[in-house]
Amino acid sequence: MPFSHAESRRARQDFPALSRPTGDPPLAYLDGPAGTQVPRSVLDAMNDYYEQANANTHGRFATSRESDRRMLEVRRKVAAFLGVDSWRRISFGQNMTTLAYSLSRALAREIRPGDEVVITQLDHEANRGPWAALGERGARIREVALTPEGVLDRDDLEAKIGARTRLVAIGWASNALGTVNDVEHARRLASAVGAQLVVDAVHYAPHFPIDGERLDADFLLCSAYKFYGPHVGILCARDGLLDQLEPERLSTQDQEAPYRIETGTLNHAALAGVGAAIDYLASWGEGDDLRSRSVDAMSSIAQWEHSLARRYEAGLRELPGVRIWGPPVARTERRAPTVSITVEGVDSGDVAERLGESGLQVWDGHFYAARAVEVLGLADRGGLVRTGFSLYNDPDEVDRLVAALREIAASAR
Ligand SMILES: Cc1ncc(COP(=O)(O)O)c(C=O)c1O
Repeated sequence: MPFSHAESRRARQDFPALSRPTGDPPLAYLDGPAGTQVPRSVLDAMNDYYEQANANTHGRFATSRESDRRMLEVRRKVAAFLGVDSWRRISFGQNMTTLAYSLSRALAREIRPGDEVVITQLDHEANRGPWAALGERGARIREVALTPEGVLDRDDLEAKIGARTRLVAIGWASNALGTVNDVEHARRLASAVGAQLVVDAVHYAPHFPIDGERLDADFLLCSAYKFYGPHVGILCARDGLLDQLEPERLSTQDQEAPYRIETGTLNHAALAGVGAAIDYLASWGEGDDLRSRSVDAMSSIAQWEHSLARRYEAGLRELPGVRIWGPPVARTERRAPTVSITVEGVDSGDVAERLGESGLQVWDGHFYAARAVEVLGLADRGGLVRTGFSLYNDPDEVDRLVAALREIAASAR
């Protein structure tokens, strides 16, 4: 099923935040990379959990059994969304960063001096800091270079992964530049030397279908608040791998995967919301089961979002003094609909501030992809101005944004 202007307009009705009274000019939510808005069905699912199933897990009474049933169902839905066969591969946590740190502390027990860990200059700190911390155990941290074009240096990636590599951590899509990395290539390189692969899919998951079985990462991480859900982190581990690790955990908790890395009581209501977010996305697709509806929906949503990013890029190209960073949108479909710019003579914070005054909500700075912004030479210039397109954005918002930027750029000339 195609997802185009009509579908996007209909989708807007599903998001209570989008009809929040805002005065004039209306708000345009162009900050999806920092977290999308939430549809009514997700809010309802969270409420419904509290009304119908609120209990701790594994009790011998009705609401606990209902709670267990719903939590299992959510794991199944996430497994379908991520394209993996078993719900036992799906663990939850507070957010992606917290899960990555738990994993890193577990992996630290196996690191020996001289082992190498590969991270990239493009990644969000959440996919760098936890792995760089393995340096405290004697690991040598190797950083794959980012080119001025905003893509990872392929030769450098190949050179940095070698016989001593134990772990390769790479983002699937950049939350700063929209670059989609060739994680399949990283998978092949890591496999060839027996290293484990961690893929940060936080920015990829809201925009593209994921085939986790095909990718075959050892660990894949994402975060539901980026794909229309509540704040929940998700870890998808290779079958059986979590059981071989020693994450910090209580002796009294469930010791098997996927529970093994889940400390304390999870936010059950939020998890109910995660399942509803996946159902919501899948409702825009066709197919016989959740997996096929979800793949169909994500593929057509990707095209809609890409068309908005292309329109934005084309508008920007007409503006003197505006520089677009990252790979050109028009050149490839394999690019997230996240476009970052700088405006000559205006600090990025001021650009975002002025856009905000016009109801155009975009982010500025480094968005925790601080190393990338530093490497691009923008760290002391206020970083980037980032716009991210989500399924509910529309061409009018793109045009408003371009018009506002035209004025800002002209005022500095
Ligand atoms: C690409 C990327 N990775 C990781 C994270 C961290 O996710 P979380 O907020 O769930 O810890 C973010 C959040 O912005 C992100 O954009």
